Amino acid sequence: MKAVFAPKAGPPEILEIRDIPKPEPRKSEILVRVHCATVTSGDANLRRFNRVFLGAVGLIAGFKVMKVPGVEYSGVVEAAGAGVSAFKPGDQVRGTTTGLAMGANAEYVCVPEHPKMGVLIHKAPELSHKEAAAVCVGAMTALFFLRKAGVREGDSVLVYGASGSVGSAAVQLARHFGARVTALCSGANAPLVSDLGAERVIDYRTSDFRDEGNRYDIIIDAVGKLKKSGVKDSLTDGGRFLTVKSMTKEINEEMEFLQDLQVSEELKPVITEEFSLDRITEAHRLVDSGRKRGNVVIPIVTEP
Ligand SMILES: NC(=O)c1ccc[n+]([C@@H]2O[C@H](COP(=O)([O-])OP(=O)(O)OC[C@H]3O[C@@H](n4cnc5c(N)ncnc54)[C@H](OP(=O)(O)O)[C@@H]3O)[C@@H](O)[C@H]2O)c1
Repeated sequence: MKAVFAPKAGPPEILEIRDIPKPEPRKSEILVRVHCATVTSGDANLRRFNRVFLGAVGLIAGFKVMKVPGVEYSGVVEAAGAGVSAFKPGDQVRGTTTGLAMGANAEYVCVPEHPKMGVLIHKAPELSHKEAAAVCVGAMTALFFLRKAGVREGDSVLVYGASGSVGSAAVQLARHFGARVTALCSGANAPLVSDLGAERVIDYRTSDFRDEGNRYDIIIDAVGKLKKSGVKDSLTDGGRFLTVKSMTKEINEEMEFLQDLQVSEELKPVITEEFSLDRITEAHRLVDSGRKRGNVVIPIVTEP
């Protein structure tokens, strides 16, 4: 099968398209024909890191070195191990390969029925594989933060870096919970972020929100550029600051929650670029630029 292969750590140019053996599902695994995958900022980080170091850390953290990248996918079950009960061939599924040795930037991927670190759910038939792949780890991260912050109706929420994968989901989810959202992004992305439901959009390149003297119940730094000490005067008493630099968790039930919001069209996938598997290097270059808007998808099977 065709797969993206990272023989070593390095820039996007190290990525190769290789013909590698199609994986075979173990007893508790399913084999998924990947219809659409993505390139996330996490994939770019994995590619960049020193793999020996990552391997040592991985042993402790339970991660494995990933030679085939790709954390997010949507596809169709091709085969199921004898011990699998919830999935059968032909089922449409979506999930992540978090913590697995092989990623989903490939024609096929094997994933456990009960992932230890990632998620796996049935894909709603109303959604395309692209829509499913594009609402995944970024959205789960945004949801994790909003829940941790205890977001409530009427809260004022500031989303810093609102045009990325985490940020674009945070704006929409905060709106879903009834919050009023102020969003920061570059001027060019202001229309996109307004469309997602932000009440106010500030261009962080021309104004510093801290100078306005406004206070927020929740500040979410979706790009990891702020420090808590730098925003404490912009928080209300008891206000909470959350940053993508902290640990999050992938939870199946939360993926189901996000899927329901997608089906009811309260959560839109933000897809601004798509690349074929053969153009994986270009996709990584875009993610490396730090200017990706929303999510970058890699369709592998052409959808009708
Ligand atoms: N994507 C995920 O699934 C995920 C999950 C967990 C954690 N994270 C972490 O979360 C961070 C963001 O990831 P992401 O994928 O959402 O987005 P990203 O691709 O890392 O960032 C893209 C966005 O960042 C904005 N940006 C760049 N420099 C900025 C600055 N100095 N100030 C404010 N905004 C800036 C850009 O918007 P403008 O062009 O409008 O400035 C662009 O839209 C990364 O550190 C990543 O490792 C990501």
